Amino acid sequence: MKKGLKKIMALGLVAVIGLSMVGCGKDNSDKSALTQIKENGKLVVGTSPDYPPFEFVIPENGKNKIVGADIDLAKKIAEKLGVKLEVKGMDFDALLPALQSSKVDMVITGMTPNEKRKKAVDFSDIYFKGENAVVVKSENINKIKSENELKKLKIGVQKGSTQETYATENLKAEKITSMKSVPNLMLDLKNGNIDAVILNSKVAKINEEKVDGVKVAQSLKLTSGGDDEAMAIAIKKGNNADLLKAINEEIKTLEANGEYDKILAESVNLVDKAGADK
Ligand code: ARG
Repeated sequence: MKKGLKKIMALGLVAVIGLSMVGCGKDNSDKSALTQIKENGKLVVGTSPDYPPFEFVIPENGKNKIVGADIDLAKKIAEKLGVKLEVKGMDFDALLPALQSSKVDMVITGMTPNEKRKKAVDFSDIYFKGENAVVVKSENINKIKSENELKKLKIGVQKGSTQETYATENLKAEKITSMKSVPNLMLDLKNGNIDAVILNSKVAKINEEKVDGVKVAQSLKLTSGGDDEAMAIAIKKGNNADLLKAINEEIKTLEANGEYDKILAESVNLVDKAGADK
């Protein structure tokens, strides 16, 4: 009798736990990404603010503020959704994990939508068709003219970036240094620990202006798949069709009315004005 009662109670407990778990699961998957953001009243964006003019840090009232073309794009999207914008700065290679664990709603960080990433997250339409460039020490500017010469050098790339993939898989370079941030790469280039840094051409140009003793290797073309650096917004997979639609509509509007170009130009000006993070 006593045993029987225990058994029934145990079964009941299992049933309750089971039911509540069903309840949880249902709740989460029912709510679309957009509904959730609207309920929260804010759009949380993750970015790695070491990529001027797309994202960088400026001092404002004694505090560090993350600004740039990607942040302005995020602002436009938040406005369209009718919510506040919150920007979280983190290391580049921490961004997609943060998105997948719902610490952020989207990642805007000059991210290139490649096949590998598409398996883990969803991407918006491309909002900027960037290209890559190579930054070298000024005295080597005439020595590095082809990918063949480049691949023999000590190459610096950002950890987890498509430039890292290009250097390892396409270029098959022998010596690759992967670092968490672009300023650290520039420092190592200046110090001679590495010979060349591969990154977006606009970011390269800004670094050429800001960092002493480094130059963009203009005549070097990255023909074996390293030229393109398209940029898109990453969002978490699953029940996100409404959010994706809203993002793509905003991108389309900003492209069509020329506003994205203005945003980008203003961010370049802001880098010059603020003497942004190197
Ligand atoms: N487009 C490259 C990638 O997706 C590099 C992006 C780097 N962005 C940054 N904010 N540091 O891997």
